[in-house]
Amino acid sequence: MRWVHLIAGISWIGTSFYFNWLNHSFRDPVKPKVGVGGELWSVHGGGFYRVERFVVAPDELPEVLHWFKWEAYLTWLSGASLLVLVYYMGAELYLVDPAVADISTFAAIAVGVSALVLAWFMYDGLCRSPLAKFKPVLVIGLLSLLAASAYVLGEVLGARAAYIHVGSMLGTIMTANVLWVIIPSQQRLVAAIKRGGEPDVAEGRHAAMRSLHNNYMTLPVLFLMISIHYPVTYGHEYNWVILILLSLIGIGTRHFFNLRNAGKKAPWIAPSIIAGLVGLAVLTIPRKAGIDSGQQASFSDIIAIVNQRCLSCHSLTPTNDAFAAPPAGIDFDTVDRIRDFAGRIRAVAVDTETMPPGNITGITLEERRLIGDWVNRGSPID
Ligand code: HEC
Repeated sequence: MRWVHLIAGISWIGTSFYFNWLNHSFRDPVKPKVGVGGELWSVHGGGFYRVERFVVAPDELPEVLHWFKWEAYLTWLSGASLLVLVYYMGAELYLVDPAVADISTFAAIAVGVSALVLAWFMYDGLCRSPLAKFKPVLVIGLLSLLAASAYVLGEVLGARAAYIHVGSMLGTIMTANVLWVIIPSQQRLVAAIKRGGEPDVAEGRHAAMRSLHNNYMTLPVLFLMISIHYPVTYGHEYNWVILILLSLIGIGTRHFFNLRNAGKKAPWIAPSIIAGLVGLAVLTIPRKAGIDSGQQASFSDIIAIVNQRCLSCHSLTPTNDAFAAPPAGIDFDTVDRIRDFAGRIRAVAVDTETMPPGNITGITLEERRLIGDWVNRGSPID
């Protein structure tokens, strides 16, 4: 399912990037042609291509007209399946974290699903409201929605589930934009041309706006979907701030390229993005946990902690029913393995507190500190 999701996602984002680039890269045709507003030449894979863009629409439609929608639908369907398979069927492990909010798995699933539904209605409502006419108001409104979801979900769901759900909210908005706004608008456009009537320009403009929103959402979504590989982001104390900053950087990056492709200059964007990335890197440097614990653990203490809190999953023969093999290929069956992985153990169990998932084995803060202290001392074996 993950494979399908990745392939569908690449096809979708790939075509989306390509058409967005096209849209911003057309130049006036060298030889003027009736109805044609832009022309673009390119070379790829041994062929030359000339693409023309009509100002509104051609007088007559060709027999074969390509639509791009299944990439989006398949991405959403496979993503929703993954959400159910990983986060809802494994809610105890991945969705609920008692240290964040001690809620039932049913309540957490209800929160997750409603977040996706609400996201669309709030976004769509905002886009259709009179406020949408004022661009800065719309932008601030949409960004506030993103910030609020990051904060609220972070207060209710386990950290990594919160990140995935914000990503899924954006992905749902993007897919619904395709399904309920962009494709219907194109269908009416095609129907109007077939009737020989005039296409609705206002509707076309609205669909183009949704398409542009989708474009700005791509980079934040892509990060959120791979965020589970980066515990320093979702595992951070201010993970919602990091989510917002990363999203702004992603949106800013798209903006930079959109302007550049259109031949416009905005010299402040690139330095802001770089400054933002450096700021984020500094913000997420792991704090030296464990140093002030005032206690020193011996290696055998550490082994005891790992055996009690981690071994049920991280073993070649896991006792936790959810696993048939050690997750991420990491087992702590021998003392050498524990020592070898000392740095990564610190990263997930001390610096970011993302392991054990949902703290399912009930590791204590004191135990985390002892591990941190031991790794900071160079993980000595006594
Ligand atoms: C309930 C099962 C479970 C328990 C208990 C558990 N883990 Fe994990 N661990 C996982 C899973 C699943 C992964 C795979 C990555 C993921 O899905 O987040 C993982 C991944 C990891 C990784 C690799 C992360 C990376 O990308 O570097 C480390 C290191 C790790 N765990 C350490 C620990 C430590 C240390 C403990 C005990 C304090 C622990 N785990 C307890 C399930 C568990």
